[in-house]
Amino acid sequence: MREARRVLEAVSASGSASIQFEEFPHGADHFLTTGETLGDATYARLRDEFDAILLGALGDSRIPDDRHARDILLGLRTRLDLYVNFRPLRLRAPDLSPLALSETDAIDFVIFRENTEGFYTGSGGTLRQGTPDEVAVSESFATRFGVERIVRRAFEFAMSNGRTLVTLADKSNAVPHVFGLWRRVFFEIAEEFPEVEAEARYVDALAMDLVRMPSHFQVIVAENLLADILSDLGAELVGGLGVAPSANLHPGRTGLYEPVHGSAPDLAGQGVANPMATVLSAGLLLRHNGAPEAAAAVEAGVDEALAAGIRTPDLGGTLSTREVGAWLADAIASNLS
Ligand code: IPM
Ligand code: MN
Repeated sequence: MREARRVLEAVSASGSASIQFEEFPHGADHFLTTGETLGDATYARLRDEFDAILLGALGDSRIPDDRHARDILLGLRTRLDLYVNFRPLRLRAPDLSPLALSETDAIDFVIFRENTEGFYTGSGGTLRQGTPDEVAVSESFATRFGVERIVRRAFEFAMSNGRTLVTLADKSNAVPHVFGLWRRVFFEIAEEFPEVEAEARYVDALAMDLVRMPSHFQVIVAENLLADILSDLGAELVGGLGVAPSANLHPGRTGLYEPVHGSAPDLAGQGVANPMATVLSAGLLLRHNGAPEAAAAVEAGVDEALAAGIRTPDLGGTLSTREVGAWLADAIASNLS
């Protein structure tokens, strides 16, 4: 987060975007000292007073059930109704993929993750907990309204970004109610976009195809949990979670930008975490807040760093988080000057 802020400050200093910052302490330490995850007053301020939230990865071994993370991250997604979780995955340097690709194989697809429904609503409960007769129920929801709006955004993105194929990931062969609705709505909305090809794949086969023929995919739209899983798989294909950004969006509302990864507690305090996923998330923040040139400079800066071997250990480099962040801030500033 420190390095992403350094980059945004460099962007702001260049004059290509004018950014004012306010830092919020909400995280594990704050929760452990105050018992507060995200209070109503803070939520209302975030909703009303800010254009964007850049969120540091959450998760702390002192809070094994991660309830602060659920409350803050899932709470913001739900309360702000950020129904689009936009997760672009692009192979930025050929050696980053664990796959044996040919020179011409590009990996460049975007996952549109439905971000408010599915298993993530918290609906359900437990009976007779801790006894041999324990029962647990988690209910998964799909609404026509919810499926229509995310599917439409995926097709609109394809249309306006020169993409010719949208793929639905579902499991309608085994889970007919929720995914039957997904499949019917997907092909209904597809008819509004005759220029874009639409295909549906079962998520298990799609996971295989992502590894087998990743260049096939351009835009993937999926239910919350399925897309959560696919986005980690997709990240690994292009260099891992250290390079995978995301944007949680609802047009017209405060957006939430965050790396796809968690807090990597095994790296804490060592100064070796890869800042690129958070920096690229800051790039998405710029792109979605009227600063496309600054966003392009951030993306180019990351590409230049990767090509020049400016890398943390997860990508085979030897540099620290701070060294990579400082290099990126300089490169991005010079891209903008
Ligand atoms: C993600 C994360 C979260 C999710 C966790 C931290 C609750 O894995 O953003 O992909 O499942 O949505
Ligand atoms: Mn995830």
